[in-house]
Amino acid sequence: MTAALPAAPATLATARTLSGAGAGAGAGAGAGASTSAGVADTNQHYDLDPEIFGLFLDSRRKYSSGLYRTDGTTLESAQLAKLRFVAERLGLRGGERTLDVGCGWGSVVLFLAAELGCHAVGVSPAGRQHAYIAARAAELGVAELVRTHQGHFETLDLPPASFDAVSLLGSIVHMPDLDLVFRRARALLRRGGRLYVSESCFRNAAAHAEFDRRGGTEFVRNSIFGWGDMRPLSELIRAAEDAGFSVRSVDDLTEDYRHTIEHWLDNVAAHADQIDAIRPGTAQTLSRYLQVANAGWGFTTKHYALVCQKSR
Ligand SMILES: C[S@@+](CC[C@H](N)C(=O)[O-])C[C@H]1O[C@@H](n2cnc3c(N)ncnc32)[C@H](O)[C@@H]1O
Repeated sequence: MTAALPAAPATLATARTLSGAGAGAGAGAGAGASTSAGVADTNQHYDLDPEIFGLFLDSRRKYSSGLYRTDGTTLESAQLAKLRFVAERLGLRGGERTLDVGCGWGSVVLFLAAELGCHAVGVSPAGRQHAYIAARAAELGVAELVRTHQGHFETLDLPPASFDAVSLLGSIVHMPDLDLVFRRARALLRRGGRLYVSESCFRNAAAHAEFDRRGGTEFVRNSIFGWGDMRPLSELIRAAEDAGFSVRSVDDLTEDYRHTIEHWLDNVAAHADQIDAIRPGTAQTLSRYLQVANAGWGFTTKHYALVCQKSR
């Protein structure tokens, strides 16, 4: 998770192959999705029944931090505020060509298409997410604006310089080769285009090394995601700079993610019976994962939003 790996003190360092979703997984048509890629090894979690996520996430099923700027903010309003924040940081005004890498259940692509009329492309290896996004796009009347591709971003074949903005919310944690990801993102952007990355990070290299093999880390790595590495912010910035990006801004969203996960935990507790009816034992596993994640914020872990520009 961001979202997938929100705050778990994990450095899921096992090797992951990218062969499951081979290069050039095809494009979906009108809010549809290609299905030529196999299920990715990192997506055991994301290929769970989408209804499970509907029982503890907000109505958009956004699986990453919200933005809490006032007391008493609900999960719903925090996630809407975060989507507006992402659009603002990307400099979007309406009608742009956008790519959301690790699109989850489509919160970003659907928001950008419905609210700003963007031509929004999403990428994810998790097969079940694509049918969900296609159905929501049709319900919202934006099927012509939304496309998704099933596959790994690292091996997906997309035209160079074809996007005004690229976003990764809670997905770069699942990608072993940071340099490749930043280089590909830059190649896909037009000159002047922006990249938004929000991710959970160990607070520095020492915490990264120390907590990699702790029990909580192993639990999240083995029982939830399969692979993930919460690299310190400095590693993300180094990869961005080496790829040729200019760094525009860094926001600290650590407290925002803590609040988000508190809301998710409340929702898991409130709907435990329904979650377990879909998949027995899942409520307890989810709670443990989210508690591990929230234990580290501000001590071992941080959550940042990094914005870069292809300035030349
Ligand atoms: C924590 S979820 C975040 C979803 C979404 N960004 C959101 O904020 O709701 C991480 C997403 O990254 C996707 N993902 C994992 N590895 C990926 C890869 N190599 N390429 C593209 N997407 C990937 C997962 O399938 C999942 O949809």
